[in-house]
Amino acid sequence: MKTVDAIRSRRAVKHFDANHRMTEDEINEFLSLAVLSPTAFNIQNWRYVMVTDPALRTQIREVAWGQAQVTDASLFFILCADLKSWEKQPDRYWKNASKDVQDFMLPAIDDYYRGKDQVQRDEAMRSCGITAQTLMLTAKSMGYDSCPMDGFDFEKVAELINLPDDHVIAMFVAIGKSTKEAWPRGGQLALDEVVIKNRFS
Ligand SMILES: Cc1cc2nc3c(=O)[nH]c(=O)nc-3n(C[C@H](O)[C@H](O)[C@H](O)COP(=O)(O)O)c2cc1C
Repeated sequence: MKTVDAIRSRRAVKHFDANHRMTEDEINEFLSLAVLSPTAFNIQNWRYVMVTDPALRTQIREVAWGQAQVTDASLFFILCADLKSWEKQPDRYWKNASKDVQDFMLPAIDDYYRGKDQVQRDEAMRSCGITAQTLMLTAKSMGYDSCPMDGFDFEKVAELINLPDDHVIAMFVAIGKSTKEAWPRGGQLALDEVVIKNRFS
């Protein structure tokens, strides 16, 4: 499938076949493509909590407005980010680069994030949003559907998955075989409302 076709046909699906199982190879394909998603300074701050335990899925569904995607998806990710990945052995993110690049990047990373809580959090959300789209487009190209989700109690989900203090939850991505068409598109805004030429008036 062409990327543009995956973009056009991706929809937020609410109903998945609860009996469908993915193969290990398929799951590995999802994960290995997801981690090719770009992150600022290559800090790779996303963390993919893959929930396979049916009992935990049921508990998460209870704090996610009862949404069926949580229990019925073949693959269910809680996309989290490590807010402090930028300071955890950052040389790992540039280990294959030349010394010149490393000498530039490592101080630049520190300078960009240290002491800037909002920047760290914004970066978490940017990275997770991008990798969510990678997962959803991968799903389409592999014959699956998906649903991005933030309809849940973030604090309760954090407790259920033992989220570390220096991590945040961005969203869920549920992936599986759809059993019902997505709702008709809600309606896109006109381009002249959402595209701003050069600057806001
Ligand atoms: C961050 C985010 C959170 C969302 N949360 C939910 C959710 O909790 N449950 C749900 O059914 N759909 C959820 N959606 C799906 C949106 O309603 C859907 O993407 C939007 O209506 C556009 O439809 P489309 O994705 O089918 O084009 C969410 C989408 C995004 C991007």
